[in-house]
Amino acid sequence: MFRTSLIYKLFIVSFFYIFTSFSAFALTVGFAQIGAESSWRTAETESIKAEAKKRGYTLKFSDAQQKQENQIKAIRSFIAQGVDAIILAPVVETGWERVLREAKRANIPVILVDRGISVDDDSLYFTKVASDFIFEGRLAGSWLAQSLHGQGAVVELQGSTGASAAIDRQKGFKEIVDLFPKLSIIASQNGEFTRTKGKEVMEAFLKAHGEKIDAVYAHNDDMALGAIQAIKDYGLVPGEDIKLISIDAVKGAFEAMVDGDLNATVECNPLLGPLAFDQIELAVAGKTAPKWVVQNDLIHYRENAKETIGSRKY
Ligand code: AHR
Repeated sequence: MFRTSLIYKLFIVSFFYIFTSFSAFALTVGFAQIGAESSWRTAETESIKAEAKKRGYTLKFSDAQQKQENQIKAIRSFIAQGVDAIILAPVVETGWERVLREAKRANIPVILVDRGISVDDDSLYFTKVASDFIFEGRLAGSWLAQSLHGQGAVVELQGSTGASAAIDRQKGFKEIVDLFPKLSIIASQNGEFTRTKGKEVMEAFLKAHGEKIDAVYAHNDDMALGAIQAIKDYGLVPGEDIKLISIDAVKGAFEAMVDGDLNATVECNPLLGPLAFDQIELAVAGKTAPKWVVQNDLIHYRENAKETIGSRKY
């Protein structure tokens, strides 16, 4: 009788021990996402959700509908709920100091994904997992300069105002264009990273400059897809009369390249879930990480789109 109850007690104690040590690793993470403006963004959200599930973590997800104030509210709510870490995809570059100081005071590490922020004190976040947007802009500029033989009129569809993805992609592209005296950006406007706005802005560009336009540089594929439609409606042939290059390399861009409408796209990998959670685990374990975990990008051309489209993951 005594032996049976001892074994029973041992069983309960070990079960309790195993259970508590397992739940110590089952982290709760808050993810302050920007919204769902593009297919790239949707792929990023899915990657982070899938990785949380794979690792057995609880993910608290918030969609800010493109508003910084909503992201700040979400971060404050994650802090109040006592999450173990926060993933932030910052909609704009500035205005984060205050809320990030609150997270730091609460000892909650913040991992930035895809876009960067501009703060004086970089201890306000643990690390940033993102592509180099300036490099992407340079890649796009180099391709365009070469394909227009160093001369022509380019229109630019910018990403949302204040986003690091828009600021840096413009900067890198302009650096290259400025090297060619006969190549110029004749118009540049915010297309908000969406297909609808990209089409609308391209319609206005065509109305103002018509056949003078030699090429379109779009800060993302969705805007380029909208521009393609506008060019067709205007009666010109996208990819031929007007060359187009954009950034992201989503499935839709590959389809447009296969159809001949889009000339090239620069890869910006949205599948950031695995890397982001690796950083979270380092932070929670009290380890360090480089301040920027860079994703490497490359360029895809319509000439090889048919061969590569089948292997695309987003
Ligand atoms: O920050 C990354 C950019 O945001 C992607 O290129 C774009 O598609 C998105 O909406």
